Formats: sequence, C-alpha cells, structure tokens
Amino acid sequence: MRIEGKEYRTIWFENNVVKIIDQTKLPHQFVIKELQTVNDAINAIKIMEVRGAPLIGGTAAYGLALAVQENNNPEFLKKSAEELIQSRPTAINLKWAVDRMIKKLVGINSDQVLSTALNEAKEICDEDEKFCENIGINGLKIIEEIYYKKKDTVNILTHCNAGWLATINWGTATSPIYHAHKKGIPIHVWVDETRPRNQGANLTSYELNEEEIPNTIIADNTGGILMQRGEVDVCIVGTDRTLSNGDVCNKIGTYLKALAAHDNNIPFYVALPSSTIDWDIKNSKDIPIEERNSEELSHVEGIDENNEIKKVLIYPNKSKAMNLAFDVTPAKYVTGLITERGISEASSEGLKKLFK
Ligand code: MRU
Repeated sequence: MRIEGKEYRTIWFENNVVKIIDQTKLPHQFVIKELQTVNDAINAIKIMEVRGAPLIGGTAAYGLALAVQENNNPEFLKKSAEELIQSRPTAINLKWAVDRMIKKLVGINSDQVLSTALNEAKEICDEDEKFCENIGINGLKIIEEIYYKKKDTVNILTHCNAGWLATINWGTATSPIYHAHKKGIPIHVWVDETRPRNQGANLTSYELNEEEIPNTIIADNTGGILMQRGEVDVCIVGTDRTLSNGDVCNKIGTYLKALAAHDNNIPFYVALPSSTIDWDIKNSKDIPIEERNSEELSHVEGIDENNEIKKVLIYPNKSKAMNLAFDVTPAKYVTGLITERGISEASSEGLKKLFK
C-alpha cells in the first residue's frame, strides 16, 4: 500500500518490536506505533489502533510471538492466547491465527520457540497479503464484466473499511478495485461513512485518495436512493465472519445495504480470505456480536483549526445510546463470495466446491 508515495504493510517486526500504523489517528495524522508486549497487542486490538478482521488476526499472531519473547512459560502463553482471542469477539480471524500459532509452537525446543513464533506470524501475514491479492484478481472479473457492458465509469459502493488498512496489504473489498484501477478501468467508489467510528470516511476514503481512485463519502443512509437512481453498479464489502452456509457477519449497516441492493437488482458481493470462514458455527444467531462503548456514538472526533484532534459530545447528555458493532446478512442476499480461490455462491455447496 502507498502512503504519500511510499510502500507500507500494516504490520511488521523490527528491532524486537512489532510496528503498526495507529489507525485511531488517521486520516489526520500518520503515526507508526511500537508494540513491545502481548498486552500492547491486546490493547491495540481493543481500542482499534489496528482493526479489520485479517489485520487483527495478524496482530494476534505477532502478539503471541511477543508473549514468547517476554516469558516463554506455558501458563503465560495460554493466558495470553485466551486474552488475544477475547480482545474482540466477532472476527473469527483472531481465533484462527492464535490456534495456528499454538499448533505450530507445540513441541518446539525452547531455543527455537521465538524464531518459530516470529516466522509463523510473518507467514500468516505474508499469506494474507497473497490471498488478498488473489481476491483482487478474482474480483476484477466482476468489475471488468460491468465495464465491458456499460462502457463507462463503474460505480462501486462499499461499507466500512475492508481495505489495505484492514488487512496486511491490498484489502479484501478494495483489492478488486485496486486491480481494476491498475488495468485502467474507470472506477468511482461510493464510500459509506460508517457511523459511529467512520471507518469509511476516515480510512477507506483516505486510502483510495492515496491510490488516486475517485471516491465520494456518503452518509450511511444514502446508498438506497443512489441504488434507486441507478448510480450504483455493484456493492462489494468485507466480512468479520462468514458461516459455512454463506451468512455474512460484517460491520453494522451491511445488512440494510444488502436489502436495498436486493430490492434494486444490484449485485452484492462479499470479499474474504478463507481465514474469515467459520466452519463450526451453523446458526448465525450464535455469532458473538460485539457491543462497544456508547461513547463511540455520543462523541465525535475531528481536527480543529490548530490541527489538534478534539473529541466533542453531540448527544443530549442524559440520553442513552446502544452501539452494536456488527450485523448478519443472510446468504440469500449475497450474490457471491470473492475468495482467494475464486468466486463462490454464498452457500455450503458453493464453499465446499472451493474449499474441500
Ligand atoms: O470494527 P472494524 O473496523 O474492525 O470492522 C471492520 C469491518 O467490518 C470489515 O468490513 C471487516 O473486518 C473486513 S476487513 C477486510
């Protein structure tokens, strides 16, 4: 990914510390932060300095490597693994990454355990980058098809940030967009603001600007009228957990966009690496839906005229607010799942064909 013309990944290990881009400061400040301990990693996930399902998986993997570096004691590693998995409950990538790390570390000699942990964390991140690149190559076909029919700018609507900031590189929903842009297909992206934390406005629009892709931020409720007016050709979103039956859990508001797309005959695609598939839970009612602090709704952060980040209250101070962070879009509203192995129907049969 490119920031001010320089290539970055969202997480890396250097001089015995893990480095991340602090996403709570974007788009106003670009700050690289160091994580020195597993607790730093847990905290970074909780307060969303890193966020997005694949990136919090990568951070959990490096977090466990930091735990090994601090204290290679089985009890400490077990406690760290549990706390990492609990740090945000909805994205399955956390448990997937921690389980993969633990499996790799079992039976490794103590003099090799740190290098093994660091290698595996890097492998998880490298793999995510490759998978996201392949998601882009596979999803490009959808955009190309629309472009060849329409012979004009392709309008894509996306929700939240399923971009390179949410992964290690490329993004999931944005990867087909970046691939299409590189091929010279004219693209315009409608970016849902994504209240309450505004990941669309703060992060998706920021990264599309850095890649010079035309985009327009819209209030979360605007997508419906744009679809009715024929100004959306396709919706592409990410996911934090997709069940083996094709039900998609993603940022709150995704479900309403899928309903509007269905009513207007607009294709609604979900882009995901296989690390986001939950093969165990069968009923979407069993997905743990994160409820975050209501301050994220009642307070808004921005930059003042002195370039200082300020937080202000926007609600009546006696009002209660409720902040559910995710919802579930039933498979019947999903046109297809764009994965690293190809595009699948959102159903058990479709996923089984790709992932035997
Ligand atoms: O709460 P966030 O910002 O972590 O939510 C992120 C999303 O909802 C993304 O769509 C999802 O993690 C997919 S990221 C490729």
